[in-house]
Amino acid sequence: MSLSFTGDFPATRLRRTRLEPWSRALVAETRLHASDLILPLFVQEGENCTPVPTLPGVSRLPLKAAVETAQKAHDAGIPAVALFPVVPPDRKTPHGEEALNADNLICRAISTIKLRVPGLGVIADVALDPYTTHGHDGILSEAGHVDNDATVELLCRQALVQARAGCDVIAPSDMMDGRIRAIRAALEEAGFHHTLLLAYAAKYASGFYGPFRDAVGSAQSRPVDKRGYQLDAANSNEALREAALDVAEGADMLMVKPALPYLDILHRLSAAFPLPVLAYQVSGEYAMLHAAGATGALDGKEALLESLLCIKRAGARAIFTYAALEAAAAL
Ligand code: PBG
Repeated sequence: MSLSFTGDFPATRLRRTRLEPWSRALVAETRLHASDLILPLFVQEGENCTPVPTLPGVSRLPLKAAVETAQKAHDAGIPAVALFPVVPPDRKTPHGEEALNADNLICRAISTIKLRVPGLGVIADVALDPYTTHGHDGILSEAGHVDNDATVELLCRQALVQARAGCDVIAPSDMMDGRIRAIRAALEEAGFHHTLLLAYAAKYASGFYGPFRDAVGSAQSRPVDKRGYQLDAANSNEALREAALDVAEGADMLMVKPALPYLDILHRLSAAFPLPVLAYQVSGEYAMLHAAGATGALDGKEALLESLLCIKRAGARAIFTYAALEAAAAL
């Protein structure tokens, strides 16, 4: 914007539009709606709800409760839920074969929610970490790295299993090279022409994922080091290159994750690409806000809504947040 639009003081007083609630509402450039939010849900086997101690207010839900919560989200105007399975330890293997089981927990959750809440979008992660004994997103080579191409083959099969269960949006969060092209080709070949691909284009190796790993049970006695495939927090040009590849390979939407410490990345990606760019307010961000609210250091609800608004202002078309129901109720 050219400065010539702004006159000098006192002809220009920027406080004029800021003075009253009605004029602030009139000139607001960004507005948050329930339709901007996506609710992640942890689903588990059995009949019980199990709270996640590091994510106050969030529980691992049995299928029945997950359907009820999905219905609540739909009623609140939230367009989609993102499902994450809590895989029983005895189902985990070094190669994560349970991910390919058409009758696994995530597939049952997808098909049940699609059946019971048909108007709600269902998103599922593609990555092997809930299914591997070592907690990595792919299979390990002898050298101890995640083997890119062998992993991509499994991810394609995992995506197909989820698409067959009725998943609307496949969200590869594994950060393997070339997986968007491979998954897109596999989906097209199998006739899933309308299954959306939400590429975690800029997923950073982050210290903010701790509570999520507790929730799904992918935490290990030693922290899992994913720096060999997730982005380095020091880099932003690299995020642009990742996004450009994912766009060329057939992504429908891009994801930036985490959100609040990465607003510059969100801004760059949304300015550079005409695709919807989404953001994930991750478990550690939610836990921080909640903890500060609980001590009275800040007003938790106000800080939550401000964070979400700022994430949208920076360029997010929609936001994954564990606080989606709480935020939708407050809007
Ligand atoms: C796994 C995955 C992770 C999250 C979403 N999908 C964790 C990880 O990469 O270890 C984290 C989400 C959160 O912290 O809320 N592919």
